[in-house]
Amino acid sequence: MTITPLAAVLGHPISHSKSPILHNFWLKKYNIHGFYIPIDVAVEDLGFALNALPKLGFKGVNITVPLKEAVMPHIHHMTDRVKMIGAANILSFSSSGEIVADNTDGIGFLKNIQSNAPAWLIDRPVLVIGAGGAARAIITALRDAGIGEIRIANRTSERAQRLNHAFNSELHICQWEELSAKETLHDIGLVVNTTSLGMVGQPPLNMNLSHLNANAVVTDIVYTPLQTPLLKQASERGHQIVDGLGMLLHQAVPAFQSWFGIQPEVTQELRELVLSHG
Ligand code: ATR
Repeated sequence: MTITPLAAVLGHPISHSKSPILHNFWLKKYNIHGFYIPIDVAVEDLGFALNALPKLGFKGVNITVPLKEAVMPHIHHMTDRVKMIGAANILSFSSSGEIVADNTDGIGFLKNIQSNAPAWLIDRPVLVIGAGGAARAIITALRDAGIGEIRIANRTSERAQRLNHAFNSELHICQWEELSAKETLHDIGLVVNTTSLGMVGQPPLNMNLSHLNANAVVTDIVYTPLQTPLLKQASERGHQIVDGLGMLLHQAVPAFQSWFGIQPEVTQELRELVLSHG
């Protein structure tokens, strides 16, 4: 008897998640008779869920807000980047029920930039705006990719300092008030907004790009709307822009491969499908 492979995304709330759309698209495309479902799991029920799911035929799960950090005590094995980031977005269950964790947010971010802005000048400093969990994952990937100088700016400077401390003080902290300053921007190769500013219902990121070098690429992890006010400004100034949707698509690739054994492709068709679901 062949067992139908199952996977899920766990979060709370979970109805907004786009992950079922893309994983089920790939299951159909690669002719795999499996299912990927959203499951609403409160933090206090996470241990119970992770105990049960491997016994019910699940190959693994994605973990999303607010469980990415809460999952850490339940993990048996983790990649170095999970240790560094302190959060996981992908779990795979071994045949004995052990939980192996990875965090692919940063590599999804990097793949999105490499695919859509291959001419990005990697020898230039990168400016990361924000100092939360997303910034931590992205900085980890940028460091692993060999980026020499990473600048960070965050509204709450203590949080930027804590993040810098976690990266052995290798980051350069810019003051929030200096976000648009010539000194901050003139030699930057890539600007990344990792805050929620610019998202539907949130104020825009108040930043002036006039001191940014013409070759600099600007990207945003926000993808609702697809073109945030920051990306609109960058585009109008002639910068290459990369929207945040590709990060979501690319972070899912290693998960699908780990559970279902095929490395899926990120295509325009997939992008349009996800966009058509609002
Ligand atoms: P995530 O895991 O998505 O990164 P997070 O850990 O809550 O979420 O981090 C949110 C980031 O957005 C932080 O850098 C936060 O800045 P603070 O550390 O000062 O809170 C930033 N952010 C959210 N709302 C903001 C606002 N209105 N103005 C400036 N920064 C904001």
